[in-house]
This record gives sequence, C-alpha cells and structure tokens, in this order.
Amino acid sequence: MKKSLVAVLTPFLLSTAPHAQQPGESPALGNNRITQNDITGGALSLFDIRLAGMKIFSTPFNSLDGYGDGPGVNPLDPVSPGDRPTLQNNGTFLRINGLDAQTCMECHSVGSNATVPFRFAVGGVGGVNNNAMFQPDEIDVDDELGNGFAFYNGRFINPPFLFGSGGVELAGKEMTMDLQNQKAQAQSNPGVSVALVTKGVSFGSITYDGGSGTFDTSQVAGVDADLVVRPFGRKGEFATVRGFDLGAMAFHLGMEPVEVVGAGVDGDNDGVTDEILIGEISALHVFNTNLERPKAERPKGSAKTGKALFSQVGCTSCHQPFLNTTTQYLTYSFPEVDEDPTANVFYATDLRKGPAGFRRNMLGGVSVPLFSDLKRHDMGAALAESFGSPLDSFFITARLWGIADTAPYLHDGRALTLTDAILMHGGEGATASANFQSLADTQKEDLLSYLRTLRTPEEPAEDLLP
Ligand code: HEC
Ligand code: HEC
Repeated sequence: MKKSLVAVLTPFLLSTAPHAQQPGESPALGNNRITQNDITGGALSLFDIRLAGMKIFSTPFNSLDGYGDGPGVNPLDPVSPGDRPTLQNNGTFLRINGLDAQTCMECHSVGSNATVPFRFAVGGVGGVNNNAMFQPDEIDVDDELGNGFAFYNGRFINPPFLFGSGGVELAGKEMTMDLQNQKAQAQSNPGVSVALVTKGVSFGSITYDGGSGTFDTSQVAGVDADLVVRPFGRKGEFATVRGFDLGAMAFHLGMEPVEVVGAGVDGDNDGVTDEILIGEISALHVFNTNLERPKAERPKGSAKTGKALFSQVGCTSCHQPFLNTTTQYLTYSFPEVDEDPTANVFYATDLRKGPAGFRRNMLGGVSVPLFSDLKRHDMGAALAESFGSPLDSFFITARLWGIADTAPYLHDGRALTLTDAILMHGGEGATASANFQSLADTQKEDLLSYLRTLRTPEEPAEDLLP
C-alpha cells in the first residue's frame, strides 16, 4: 500500500515547480522589506539602511524567497544564470556555474585568517572552497586530454573582501569623470592625441577623427574603450558595487532583482516574483560600500625598510599606495549610467564620517589607501585563465590593503604565501618580480614585513551585529 503511494506521488513531486507556497514555511526575508521610497523618503538613518542591506547580504534564502532557478524556460542554455540545470534535477544546486550558496555571506565571511582559528566578519574574503566556478563547460578532472593538467575552461575565482569598497567606488567614479572629460577634449580637437591621465595613472591616449566622426581608441590602455574605470571584479568588469551585486544575486543564488527582470515578472519561472526589490539592492549597495576600510599599522624597523624597498623594486608602479578623491561623498544612482556617475543620484554617504572612516586629504576629499591604480595589466601566460578570450591574462591591479589577513592570494587563490604571489607575477609584472627575487634574504623579509602591516578592519559592521 505504502509502496504504491510512493509510486503514484513520485512523478508528481518531481514535476512540480519549487513551491511558492508551503503551509508553515515562510520566506527567510520576512514581510518587512525595504523599498526604494523608504530610502529616498529620508526617514531612515544610515544605520537603518545598512542594517537592511546586511540582512540582504546575510539571509540564507529559501524557495519561498525565490531561491534558485525554476524548471527550464530555456534548458538548452546551461551557462547563463536563470534556468540552469541542477544536480539530478534536485531543483537546488549544481555548485558549478552558480547556485553555489544560499547567502552572500557563505563566501564573504573571513575577517582575518592570520589567526587560528580565523576571525569571521560579514563582507570578508573566502577560502579556496568558496571559489566561484564561472561558466565552465569542460572540466578534465582525470586528465583524459593527457596534457598534464586538469583542463578547465571557465573562470575559477577566489572571493575578495568588500571592506573599504566605498572609497574604491568613489575613486573609480572620479577617474571615469576625468577620462570622459579628456575624451570630450579630444572631440573638440580633432586629430590631436589627448593623454588619458587621472589621479596619477596613465591610461594611454585618445584621438578624434573629425572626418569619420569616430574615436581612435587603439592607444587606450588598461581600461575599456568607453573609458569607464571598472574597479570591481578581478578582471575589472564593474564600475559600481551595485552593478556587481545584481549579477551576484542571480548567479550565486538565483535571486532575481526587480531592476533586471521587471516588477511582478517571474523571470526564472520559479513561482516567485519581486525576489529582490530595487530598494533592497540599494540598501545592499549602501551596506557594502559603508563597511569599515582596511587599516595599516605604522611600519617600524624592518617594515620601514621594506616600505622603501616596495617602491624601489617597482611594486608601486601598479600597487599605487593611495588614490586621492576630491570629495568625501559617495553618491548612489538608480538607474546607474556608468559613463556619468552624476546621473540619477538618490542618496549619498559621507565616507569620512560614516563607518568607512577614510582620512581627509589636502584636496578636501579622502585618501583611499588601496595599493592599486585601478588599471588592467597583462600578467603573462602563466597567470592567464583558460577562458579563450584575449583578456585572459589581464587583471586589474589587486588592492593590497588588508593583505596580511587574506591568504590565499591571486585571482584563483593559487598562491598560498605572499612570496608565491610575488614570484608568480609575469607579463608587465615580470620585472618587479625579478627585482624582488634578486633582493637579499633580509631585504625580502623586510618587504614582507611591510606587506604584513596592511591589515583588515578589526570589527567591520560591529555596530550592526545582534
Ligand atoms: C560562491 C561564492 C560567492 C558567493 C555566494 C558570493 N560571492 Fe561575491 N565574490 C565571489 C568571488 C569569487 C568574487 C570575485 C569575482 C570576480 O573577480 O569576478 C566576488 C566578488 C564580489 C564583489 C566584488 C568585489 C571586488 O572588490 O571586486 C562584490 C561586490 C560581491 N562579490 C558581492 C556579493 C554579493 C552581494 C553576494 C550575494 C548576492 C555575493 N557576492 C555572493 C564569491 C562569492
Ligand atoms: C604590472 C603591474 C604590477 C606590478 C609592477 C606588481 N603587481 Fe602585484 N599584482 C598585480 C596584479 C594585476 C595582481 C592580481 C593578479 C591576479 O589576481 O592573478 C597582483 C597581485 C599581487 C598580490 C596578491 C594580492 C591578492 O590579494 O591576491 C601581491 C601580494 C602582490 N601583487 C604584490 C606585489 C609586489 C610585492 C610587487 C613588487 C615586487 C608587485 N606586486 C608588483 C599587478 C602588479
């Protein structure tokens, strides 16, 4: 009797969509959800908005929230987020190409791993087991190809932390505005090559051809041809944290933001609409960009010598210690226009007074001690990803602030020590790496003790914790 009941029920269960309704169960986000009007209305404090954002970042979503992709609207498209196949059609995860966590915090949770056991923190880094496996469709686990390594044609990426990201976003936006102005200058001076330089970083040059009415971008370097500085993602693909967050929601969690699929639209066919509201992405953006910034200890003794060496051997040509902004206010836009960060602004936070706590600089803005030029560099064949695009070996200069606490290193976490990371620099980084290698042992120790003064914030988002 029981057996036949199972036989009758099984096909039925397998064919149902993830349950939008389950008596006794409820969405993990609850019903008290923050809207864009709540934020623009001005009644909420920065604390309230950050708290709401932290909730979006750390809630383990379930099927009632709209977690995951529904049954195949387009089952033939295995790589783009939405409608992805799951393991044994379990409806929940595959782990490869996303559906790889229930909450953002699963991968961004290590505040420091310089201690044993490591210290947790919302918005931190992840270990190699938290690496994202982006869009592979071939994994040669047992080396059937016989080329001596496990061929994998996707991206394998280690999660960075989000501390201080408000300063990074502000610096990037100001750089974009400078470059857009220089592009306009080129347009008003046809045939004249205009240098693209912002905050001491050179991005090549641009020329406007009055005859054809087009820009010659062949001399543009380290940034996309649209001259938008994109600090986020290890390959420099996103101008703002909001832009990154939208993709992260869909890719990792199958949570579809309203601003991507539309209000009331069930884009992933899982029976749930309005999975992540516009106001929820705004709150997430505000939370992420108002996390405390990494702080450096004052270099003494050996570390002080190491600081000088760091610049002497050529590390600072890419790992620029500071970027100075001209304002302390980070603005938030919806919808965002990458080329024009001043468009559609609905909110602003003070990066000096807020939790980010950046220092005032001489320009009336803040100094962002990130150790990066926010520029893309060719790091050589050995570091390249096996993705099949010309940008395989290009990465945006990794920000070294907090580096003492964030092993493993490099985009996929292949470097377990700082020395490994430095020695693996090829391409444009090869000379500096060779210079490091030719230092005396004590000098290497000095340089490493300098890098170990670069610490993550001790208690990020502490005021929000229960
Ligand atoms: C499976 C692990 C994983 C999960 C879950 C995850 N992330 Fe990430 N996160 C990563 C990896 C890996 C990167 C680096 C991606 C890259 O370089 O392209 C990253 C990068 C980021 C960045 C850019 C940081 C920078 O400085 O470049 C942001 C912002 C971010 N994640 C936000 C989120 C949010 C919001 C969520 C939840 C919706 C989330 N992440 C969930 C692994 C994860
Ligand atoms: C040509 C530009 C360039 C130069 C010069 C350079 N780096 Fe880098 N560095 C990068 C890039 C780009 C990455 C990220 C590469 C990746 O993720 O695979 C990086 C990554 C790193 C990392 C790992 C960071 C992390 O969080 O994973 C360390 C440590 C580092 N560099 C130290 C140094 C030191 C020390 C020097 C001088 C000896 C140096 N770099 C010179 C561009 C440069």
